[in-house]
Amino acid sequence: MKKAIVIGCSTGIGRALVRELAAHGYEVGLAGRSVSSMEELASELSTGGHVKAMDLKETADARVRLAELIDEMGGVDLVVVNSGVGHHDPDWEEEREIIEVNVMGFAAVARRAMEYFMERGSGHLVGITSIAALRGLRAAYSGSKAFAAIYLEALRLKADWRGLPIQVTDVKPGFVATPMTRGREGMFWVATTEEAAAQIYRAIRKRKRHVYVTRRWRLIAWVAKALPYPLVALITRRRQR
Ligand SMILES: NC(=O)c1ccc[n+]([C@@H]2O[C@H](COP(=O)([O-])OP(=O)(O)OC[C@H]3O[C@@H](n4cnc5c(N)ncnc54)[C@H](OP(=O)(O)O)[C@@H]3O)[C@@H](O)[C@H]2O)c1
Repeated sequence: MKKAIVIGCSTGIGRALVRELAAHGYEVGLAGRSVSSMEELASELSTGGHVKAMDLKETADARVRLAELIDEMGGVDLVVVNSGVGHHDPDWEEEREIIEVNVMGFAAVARRAMEYFMERGSGHLVGITSIAALRGLRAAYSGSKAFAAIYLEALRLKADWRGLPIQVTDVKPGFVATPMTRGREGMFWVATTEEAAAQIYRAIRKRKRHVYVTRRWRLIAWVAKALPYPLVALITRRRQR
């Protein structure tokens, strides 16, 4: 049986992804802060679930706990770093939390997972970044996701340079209906968590390096990358008022 760990799965995309992986026969390890919620989710999985408390703001501890969970599961094939924080119009404390979790926390566990895969000689690391990584529309959030995307690319290069069969997948969702986006105005092409999880699973199965979720967000990505700064400023000006 294949084994996977999803970090950040008490709600939203991570929760749906745990169910999707279990439905495809994966034994799943669940990590995050909301232990009771993860235990409830684990109890409904026919393949069983291993729950581990993990706070990505405590980076050293999170790395130890990830290694413990891998050991407790007798090794894993796949680690998904899904945890993330986003705030609308954040003040500095909220921006700091975004940076702590999405940058420091992300790197701490993504790197730990990669260290394990390098030692094992194989594996698959998936990071959930965002379409927001492509332009600086939301200071800390966009910046944090751009960091995560580049960090993943660097980890992938390291494995490729050594010729190791280790996959690294960068998942860039557009809008998904989750607690993070609840009440947010101006969203479009909003996917359900189940749709997002199904597309993420497909990308994992196909060992993709990069995927937009849902796929039509590839169009927005293409436009976002191609537009010169003055046009981005003009188009987004009204939204920011
Ligand atoms: N929804 C969207 O439209 C959208 C779009 C692009 C990218 N994303 C990304 O997709 C990922 C999932 O987000 P979501 O929309 O599903 O939001 P969500 O429902 O709020 O889920 C966020 C997850 O992150 C975990 N988390 C938060 N702080 C943590 C911490 N300090 N330590 C460990 N885990 C922590 C939470 O678990 P605990 O509270 O149990 O710790 C939760 O499972 C995020 O990385 C987000 O940035 C979402």
